[in-house]
Amino acid sequence: MSKTKNQKERRLITAALPYINNVPHLGHIAGSHLPADIFARYCRARGYETLFIGGTDENGSTSEIVADEIGIPIEVFSEKLYREHKKVYDWFNISYDSFSRTSKEIHHKTTQEFFKKIYDNGFITEDEMSVFYSPEEERFLPDRYVKGTCAKCGYTEANGDQCEKCTAILDTSSLLNPVSATSGKPVEVRKVKHLFFKLSEFSEKLEKWIKSQTHWREQVRNLALGWIKEGLKDRCITRDLKHGVKVPLKEFEDKVFYVWFDAPIGYISSTKEASENWENFWKEKNTRIYHFLGKDNIPFHTIFWPAMLMANGEFILPYHIEGLQYLNYEGKKFSKSKKIGVFCEKLPGSSIDPDVLRGYLSFIIPDTGDSDFKWRDFQYRINSEIIGNFGNFINRTLSFIYNKLDGEILKPSVSELSEDDKNLIEKIKEKVVKIEESFEKVHLKTAFLEILSLCAEGNKYFNDREPWVIVKKNALEAKKILYICATLCRVLAVLIQPFLPAASEKIWKQLNLKGSPSEKGIWGSLILEDLNGSEYYGSILSQLPEKHKISKPSVLFQKLKDEDISKLKKHLSDVRELREFFNC
Ligand code: MF3
Ligand code: ZN
Repeated sequence: MSKTKNQKERRLITAALPYINNVPHLGHIAGSHLPADIFARYCRARGYETLFIGGTDENGSTSEIVADEIGIPIEVFSEKLYREHKKVYDWFNISYDSFSRTSKEIHHKTTQEFFKKIYDNGFITEDEMSVFYSPEEERFLPDRYVKGTCAKCGYTEANGDQCEKCTAILDTSSLLNPVSATSGKPVEVRKVKHLFFKLSEFSEKLEKWIKSQTHWREQVRNLALGWIKEGLKDRCITRDLKHGVKVPLKEFEDKVFYVWFDAPIGYISSTKEASENWENFWKEKNTRIYHFLGKDNIPFHTIFWPAMLMANGEFILPYHIEGLQYLNYEGKKFSKSKKIGVFCEKLPGSSIDPDVLRGYLSFIIPDTGDSDFKWRDFQYRINSEIIGNFGNFINRTLSFIYNKLDGEILKPSVSELSEDDKNLIEKIKEKVVKIEESFEKVHLKTAFLEILSLCAEGNKYFNDREPWVIVKKNALEAKKILYICATLCRVLAVLIQPFLPAASEKIWKQLNLKGSPSEKGIWGSLILEDLNGSEYYGSILSQLPEKHKISKPSVLFQKLKDEDISKLKKHLSDVRELREFFNC
């Protein structure tokens, strides 16, 4: 059975390293950190040796430009924003094993070593590069300091390195009418000597590899193959900037690496910080690497980064690229300057329960298309599904046991089971299989909906069995019915843990169970698909002690009233400009 085999497999899960030029908003949470966390929590519970790593992407021009603008030394700027990011992810219960920084020494060293290997392998060339130069400011401008029109789709607000609208990667030849992002004045193009990574040499190898990744989502695979079809050009990997990882090569010592060269190597540096056995996660064939990221990051993770890994030759390639689409807010794009959206700065200290927000975001993970955060929908889904369905089943079960049965349940023997009992127990088996399959495909939303539909089965069972009638005649029988309900509560606590970790812990405590629902390998007690009939019934019913007393129950969530929603809406969209954030 798969149970023992899986435990030997190793999984490394990463969430794209966020730029540190701002405080995250809900789009960043739904678009990488949360899905990655849900998946990592599942992997641990399923028994895989798991590491979940991330960190902040601090090099390059993105933070330099903002720190400059508000006049704060980059180190001070990054330190404060790093802490803010960390605080937000901690609030959301994102279970990073390591949340590192690309400004750390270990990362600089790792990047330089990675580069040297590629260089020694012959995949680096010197060439002249066209760069933007601002006569006005008398300096070279990094891509991010330049804006213009995307030659591919005509979007007029495109950044120098990438078009936000069509995701095209841009350079001096494909960004039309370039102007300085700070002054708005036109910039010119000049030629300077730089280092290039021979990306073009990897076309065939990449194409073959991507074509064989049949487990990727179709849209991610097609996007990647599309880039290859257009032709891969060698890419400049150095920049004339002060802030970043120094290039360890003569004549290039006063340049730094292009941020997209060093950032993905941050996954390796962060793994080093997480574990002494980091090499197992990057070099062993029985490890699977899962990258979670937003759609604008797809070309870097399906083409550029795998090619870097191929050129280096020491590491395994990623197994899965989960490229997520965008989360919008009430039909519009998140915009800090227009105060459109939910900004995370004020979440710690607000009245909202992190699990409630995790719960809603789990419904709207933008996996197959863009999705929309809507306050009405939020209120409705929480009240009807998370509370009305899930919370209700747990609470009615536990309250009934506590109030009507002296807190006690008794295990029924297999021969005592009624048709209704057996049906419910069979449903558990069927759903656990489906939920596990969905998780394995990284179809997280589907897994979530299946768990909720198992809750609905529980509610139906409770209604059909009418324990409130039975208890009046036969308390013993009622204790056996409620034993089955409590068993389902335990099953649900385990299944829902990746999505609602705090609620899951509460259920565990109220059930008065030892250990924790997030223990490594705990799913083993649910994976019983090889057993049938009585054997299966007996097994699923032995998760709880034969005669068991529960603790005092309490409700898991508070209903969201209209006034709660309007308060939250106001509170969470009222975001400070960075200048205020830094008090200047
Ligand atoms: N900082 C980038 C962004 O926010 C993502 C970097 S992901 C990594 O778009 F692969 F480079 F780490
Ligand atoms: Zn475009």
